[in-house]
Amino acid sequence: MLRCMETWAIYNLKGGVGKTAAAVNLAYEAALAGRHVLLWDLDPQAAASWYLGVDTQPELSITKVLAGKTPLGRAVQNTEYPRLSVLPGNHGYRHWDAVIHAARQPRKVLQELVAPFAEAYSLTIMDCPPGIGALATAILRAADRVLVPVVPTPLSLRALDEVRAHINNKKVGQTQVCPFFSMADRRRRLHRDLLATPPPSMADAPGVFVDYATHIEQMGVYRQPVRLFAPRSRAAAQYRALYQAIDTR
Ligand SMILES: Nc1ncnc2c1ncn2[C@@H]1O[C@H](COP(=O)(O)OP(=O)(O)O)[C@@H](O)[C@H]1O
Ligand SMILES: [Mg+2]
Repeated sequence: MLRCMETWAIYNLKGGVGKTAAAVNLAYEAALAGRHVLLWDLDPQAAASWYLGVDTQPELSITKVLAGKTPLGRAVQNTEYPRLSVLPGNHGYRHWDAVIHAARQPRKVLQELVAPFAEAYSLTIMDCPPGIGALATAILRAADRVLVPVVPTPLSLRALDEVRAHINNKKVGQTQVCPFFSMADRRRRLHRDLLATPPPSMADAPGVFVDYATHIEQMGVYRQPVRLFAPRSRAAAQYRALYQAIDTR
């Protein structure tokens, strides 16, 4: 049976919580598992693209893309890894919120842009910039699953509640919210306590989380997914387990 393309968004209104690290490693795991993966780097900072060795960001007008004048597919670049392509981050993406806000059907904009990729890919992973404006709403609408990295702290859990409230208010459809603990530091009492007794908002989280790990920071040195330069690390094992837990839901 032909499997339809799935779309996962790695999203949080907060920055610095491990979205990009997760996007790169989960995309790599999915490609290793045999899926044809497109990582769409929606962040103007283009960190996910950079981690995967893609530096070139041709100037792209999202106004023209939305008007159907520039096909987005032309911007796709192959990585050096089989089955993994990147739609690189772009400086023009600074204007997402304003451009989407001005669109005729703001909520549907990304869904419609992603749809044609179903011909070539079985999984699109969107690495999202922080924020909770028009772009976030369109992302939540386009995604079958929204993966929310949550640092085990009260403030991060509050942000998760805000994401859930946003999803309910904006009627973004059937998006499945999939939070997971990220940057967990078990040396810290607060982190340990929250991991041991997660609040109800984390009830549907997979039993897997991503620890705070130097290997993950080192992605910036090697410019590779963790598995490539630290195949036996706990971080590599955790991203694989996370991919499998989400994939088999
Ligand atoms: N689990 C982790 N352990 C240690 N450092 C991490 C971890 N996840 C991310 N980082 C580091 O924290 C910083 C922010 O991570 P990033 O994935 O870019 O977050 P976001 O995309 O949510 O802004 C980066 O320098 C990254 O290397
Ligand atoms: Mg990021």
